[in-house]
Amino acid sequence: MNLTKLLYGGDYNPEQWLNLPDILRQDIEYIKKAHINTVSLGMFSWSMLEPEEGVYQFDWLADVINHLYDNGISVILATPSGARPKWLADRYPEVLRVNSGRQRELFGGRHNHCYTSPVYREKIALINRKLAERFAAHPAIIMWHISNEYGGECHCPLCQEQFRRWLKEKYQTIEYLNERWCTTFWSHTYQSFEMIESPSEIGEHMVHSLNLDWMRYVTDQTADFARHEIKAVRSGGGSQPTTVNLMYHYAGLNYQKLADVVDLVSWDSYPLWHKTEEIDTARNNGMQHDYMRSLKHQPFLLLESCPSSTNWQSVSKLKRPGLLSAASWQAVAHGSDSVLYFQIRQSRGGSEKFHSAVIDHSGRDDTRVFREVCKIGTELEHLEELIGTMTPTEAALIYDVENRWAIEDSQGPRNKGMYYHQAAMKSYQALRKQGLNVDVIGMEQELDSYRLVIVPMLYLYREGIEEKIRHFVESGGILLMTYWSGVVDENDRCYLGDTPYGLTDVLGLRRTEIDALFDGETNRLIFPDAPEKGSYLCQNLCELIAPKGAQTLMQYGEDFYKGSAAATKNHYGNGVAYYVGTDAEQRFYDDFLKKIIIENHLRPILNIEIPEPVEVTSRCSDEWEYVFIQNFSNTEVSIPWVQLTGEILLGTAGKSILPYETIILKRKTATHKS
Ligand code: GLA
Ligand code: ZN
Repeated sequence: MNLTKLLYGGDYNPEQWLNLPDILRQDIEYIKKAHINTVSLGMFSWSMLEPEEGVYQFDWLADVINHLYDNGISVILATPSGARPKWLADRYPEVLRVNSGRQRELFGGRHNHCYTSPVYREKIALINRKLAERFAAHPAIIMWHISNEYGGECHCPLCQEQFRRWLKEKYQTIEYLNERWCTTFWSHTYQSFEMIESPSEIGEHMVHSLNLDWMRYVTDQTADFARHEIKAVRSGGGSQPTTVNLMYHYAGLNYQKLADVVDLVSWDSYPLWHKTEEIDTARNNGMQHDYMRSLKHQPFLLLESCPSSTNWQSVSKLKRPGLLSAASWQAVAHGSDSVLYFQIRQSRGGSEKFHSAVIDHSGRDDTRVFREVCKIGTELEHLEELIGTMTPTEAALIYDVENRWAIEDSQGPRNKGMYYHQAAMKSYQALRKQGLNVDVIGMEQELDSYRLVIVPMLYLYREGIEEKIRHFVESGGILLMTYWSGVVDENDRCYLGDTPYGLTDVLGLRRTEIDALFDGETNRLIFPDAPEKGSYLCQNLCELIAPKGAQTLMQYGEDFYKGSAAATKNHYGNGVAYYVGTDAEQRFYDDFLKKIIIENHLRPILNIEIPEPVEVTSRCSDEWEYVFIQNFSNTEVSIPWVQLTGEILLGTAGKSILPYETIILKRKTATHKS
């Protein structure tokens, strides 16, 4: 789905200001001045829209929408299920969540609702349909924002029943479930589905397959709820595209399934800037952008971001001048067709009164933040040609949430500190440092379009992933797999026989043992028979590998396995499979992947040495490629400009790149270069 403009704006909560019409009037003036073209409305408006059960009061919203539209501003209209009114909770306590300790929660906060409750489903369907009936035909409405940041789980009796139905459908017989869940261990055998309870810290929480299936069920139930909400919007005539706003590195849901029910993926980005080197934060955030884009392999939306500081992180640091611009352009560089903020006007009271906004409590338009917001708005307005452009990628990283659930729950070999995310980040950073775009994908996705696939710590297999990987290498792909892969099936049952399961011939080796290191303990990777080439540190996990055809590239330098293989290379079919058996330091991944990229002729976006605080990304249409060069530091950095040809669309084209500056270079895409 293509937009007609790069969306610029953010969450707007005029219901908090209805008794101060001057503020609302002033907001419109400021919104226009800031070149804002879109706002999201209604995320938390339920009690203003339905103050009493069945009494709908939409006129105030109609006035706001009309007023925005008359001033050229589009609206993303939300369904209000992110927070329900008190009357609803008081009259129908079943809408409130029961926590895993089996205690029903009181009304409070937000997002505290049961996704199964028929009452909650009925009430949300009613209001969603009515909102659509009233507003769907309004030309201001460009999109539906379904709920707000779905998350959390409910353990009420209704959800227990639904979970059992879900299990019955999946396993058919209780005997089969027992077999898959390995319940004879510790005598946990079930005689019927009715005996099964969701995991709880006061009860069953060590049947790993139960835990995994519970997370899968919570995902399916949440996606089903989203589908239910969308159906109601559609039944009221709302035909605009839908989106759900996803969160940073959220482990509570498999986001792929949520992405599948909406038209556009969007997410809320709140990095902790200025705590460590800016480029490290940028790469971490960049990986998240790439993950969101890869859910649908199409441009996504940055639905929320913060104009300056949040108020919920432990320290609310101001964004340094220029950083907002860099962070906003980074989203676009990674494939976003929007820059949207939380929030347009800072609320006067409530738990987010100190969260920054485009317009702060002073109500002035000469603030530092407002000026930066205006600047970004002007720049975006001139770059509409970026809309809908895609991200060309030769490399993919498998970073899978179900695998993450399993690794963190598996009890061994390190119960604290398996560092899956860090392991994925190491390869991701190494690729980015070489100037490659990267897709970040789950096991559901196909591998065929890539030249290089990196598979860190793929402990749990599902979706026939080992066959996909085998096929990928066989047909000429380059694989880099790392330690603790191919250990269990989708029920967390250990594979019997040689591991990494199903790939020992592709990799030309088998794992014999895995050693866990204490915190602070290290081993070393050394080059076989070439001590002069130096060494790399490794930590946390060291796998013992028996090569069976693979060439040993690195050996361990210490301990009883000193001299045995730690990193290998194997030719299989038309491709190559590399394996790294230990948690090696970043420098190792940087050097190792650089070599792989050069040897296999992968094509970085620019043929230059990228200076450390700089990120290079690209988007392209059939004809044009847009290269983004961003300085994530507050010092000027020199760049070898000689290599860069094309039209400069943004930024200065000197011999250096200014602090936090973004340069956009436009050139013909590779296929049009002749
Ligand atoms: C989330 C929510 C918003 C707001 C912001 C504050 O992303 O969706 O409603 O609470 O956080 O940072
Ligand atoms: Zn429930």
